[in-house]
Amino acid sequence: MNILIVGSGAREHAIARALSNSPQKPTLYCCALTNNPGIEPLCKEYWIGNISDADEIPNLAKDWKIDLAIIGPEAPLEKGIADALWAINIPVVGPKKKLANLETSKSFTRDLLAYYQIPGSPQYRVFYNLVGVKDFLQELGEGGYVIKADGLMGGKGVKVAGDHLHSFEEAYEFCEELHADNQAFVIEEKLIGQEFSFMCFCDGEHLIPMPLVQDHKRAFENDKGPNTGGMGSYSDATHSLPFLSKEDIKAAQQINLAVIEALKKECDERYIGILYGSFIATRAGIKLIEYNARFGDPESLNVLSILESDFVEVCKAMVSNNLSRAQVQFAPLATVCKYAVPKGYPDQPEDGALIDVSGVQYPERLFFAAVNEKDGKIYTTRSRAVAVVGVAKTISEAEEIAEQEINRIKGALYHRKDIGREVCLSCD
Ligand code: AMP
Ligand code: GLY
Repeated sequence: MNILIVGSGAREHAIARALSNSPQKPTLYCCALTNNPGIEPLCKEYWIGNISDADEIPNLAKDWKIDLAIIGPEAPLEKGIADALWAINIPVVGPKKKLANLETSKSFTRDLLAYYQIPGSPQYRVFYNLVGVKDFLQELGEGGYVIKADGLMGGKGVKVAGDHLHSFEEAYEFCEELHADNQAFVIEEKLIGQEFSFMCFCDGEHLIPMPLVQDHKRAFENDKGPNTGGMGSYSDATHSLPFLSKEDIKAAQQINLAVIEALKKECDERYIGILYGSFIATRAGIKLIEYNARFGDPESLNVLSILESDFVEVCKAMVSNNLSRAQVQFAPLATVCKYAVPKGYPDQPEDGALIDVSGVQYPERLFFAAVNEKDGKIYTTRSRAVAVVGVAKTISEAEEIAEQEINRIKGALYHRKDIGREVCLSCD
């Protein structure tokens, strides 16, 4: 079986490894952005170019006689790569463009929940110009709002009062910037609580949950400093998280199920792929921060490291509307993922620094992200470099393994020691 992976970060490294561990021994192909030294050796063909090119990717897939494709990042989903592959009869794990609006348009998602009366949204309003912005900011109050560009902005489109915006003037200026950039935007109530990532496999009808994960996005310990792509994450052997009750999980899953139903009605298409809800446990119950239409990075590294089922079978079941809970088994183990990132990341990363991973003890639990391989040597770029995952019976044992392992990686890198430690299980 020929399987195409689109994307070349640590998430796609985890996907490639999970596929190559299948007893079905699929032949892997990759359309990549960079030369990932973890993915490339697992593939028969490794093409580097524009992974959102809706002409080139289907052409390659045809030449390679691809039987199934998995799209890792959001950008190719937004450009309709799933639509283009389905159009030539290649089944795809990853929703079509219209359905991927769930991630690529914040207003689409908030309006979907409102229209179908799905609970979980904060108070919000969508703006296409600056009329009424000042009044709505005042209504939410000093420190009580979040402003989000409607579309994808590479992680730079969301600003939170108190963290990034310190006055109504700054908030209004950000809205002016977005408007000048021709972006619609959403202003919503700021939610307070613990965030968690709830990813499900979805065949358009059935939603099979993966273990819940908490990601730490801030660059520095105790969740301080600028936002990053994610510095690390953990999951528990129970597949729940220490701060969640059974009712919380049920509430989040009910939102997921209602959203899949609503999408089916709204788009007249099945949502096939990963549904990733970013939720927050507030005093007033579970609320939705946003949806992503793909695996999380780093969350995918946690969950795919303990997937016991054959990932190829799971993917086949997703694209054939045939997914059942019995098909998806995860080991009852805890995981801790830590990212090593270039010194100065995210604001002034030192790129081009040589890194050496030869000392690691568990190469099967090491995942390359945005590195560059040249003449057999590995160099940093401006983004996250390499992640390790510790797997054990408890979060604390998994943390120790991950911490020891990450210290075996040499180079001008840093990581957060606190992720997965007791102090951080309740920091936000
Ligand atoms: P991004 O993943 O770049 O869209 O960033 C979203 C981040 O902004 C989330 O992880 C939250 O920490 C924060 N955020 C988004 N919406 C809200 C909200 N309504 N209340 C509080 N924090 C939010
Ligand atoms: N872990 C955050 C993301 O994948 O968007």
